[in-house]
Amino acid sequence: MRGIVLAGGAGTRLHPITRVASKQLQPVYDKPMIYYPLATLMLAGIREILLVSTPEDVPRFRDLLGDGQQWGVQIEYAVQPKPEGIAQVFLIGEEFIREEPVCLILGDNLFYGRMRLDEVVGEFRSGAMIFAYPVSDPERYGVVEMGKDEHVLTLEEKPARPRSNLAVPGIYLYGSDVVARTRELRPSARGELEITDLNLAYLARGSLRARQLGRGIAWLDTGTHMALLEASNFIAAIENRQGLKIACLEEIAFRRQWIDASQLRATIDAMPKSPYRAYLDLVLAESL
Ligand code: DAU
Repeated sequence: MRGIVLAGGAGTRLHPITRVASKQLQPVYDKPMIYYPLATLMLAGIREILLVSTPEDVPRFRDLLGDGQQWGVQIEYAVQPKPEGIAQVFLIGEEFIREEPVCLILGDNLFYGRMRLDEVVGEFRSGAMIFAYPVSDPERYGVVEMGKDEHVLTLEEKPARPRSNLAVPGIYLYGSDVVARTRELRPSARGELEITDLNLAYLARGSLRARQLGRGIAWLDTGTHMALLEASNFIAAIENRQGLKIACLEEIAFRRQWIDASQLRATIDAMPKSPYRAYLDLVLAESL
């Protein structure tokens, strides 16, 4: 399975924070937001990743993340010239996807907890899979109504009267036919290729499944200044309580044995003195 992180968009709601760098480059507590969706993909065992962003931000992401070899992964980049819809990413990523299934994650979606994504990814073959997460304000999201097992009854984008309290988080799995299915979509009234329309196309073919994420999992919003602060506070509370970092990419790569001790040592040595570096020193020392 290949992974795509979509990290474009105008980010206007967070103005002026997003004037010179996109939302997904902003901090969530002690690291850039983009680290969290990358960690989610890495924890799912996905090592081939395409990052899609605006023409202005792709060079910034490249500066920050490089080619991924420091984390034992491969990161490629592609530009979305204009924010013409989340589903457009599959047309942009066509060459990257080739004949493989793909996992799309939105660069501003933070997940914490035992999602068992590695198992889901391991079992996934074809069709489409979305997730369902209970929220108090479903009208702000894609909303799914579920039947038995992983059956989807209805799916609506930001409905005025939601049929359930289950929002669809920004992480999706598709078979390699996703490019063909996306080509069949027409832009919505707001001129975008809508991810919900793509999922509805799978539903119409009887090949959309939804898996409910347990309430023990945190899916954090970063859409407003307050939500961003709350996400930072959430990460800080857990990290400081446990003395362990969330979404520390070097640690994930090391524990998964995608990099060895000498590679981790070299990465640490290239870092300026900081709590992040001190943490990794500890991770390495404890392993020896
Ligand atoms: O966060 C989950 C929700 O994401 C889902 O529940 C909805 O079904 C889905 O439509 C989407 O809703 P949003 O209102 O959050 O979509 P938004 O247009 O804000 O885009 C989400 C992220 O994707 C945002 O960080 C910007 C980025 N994006 C968006 C578009 C439309 C792009 O990079 N390019 C785009 O063309």
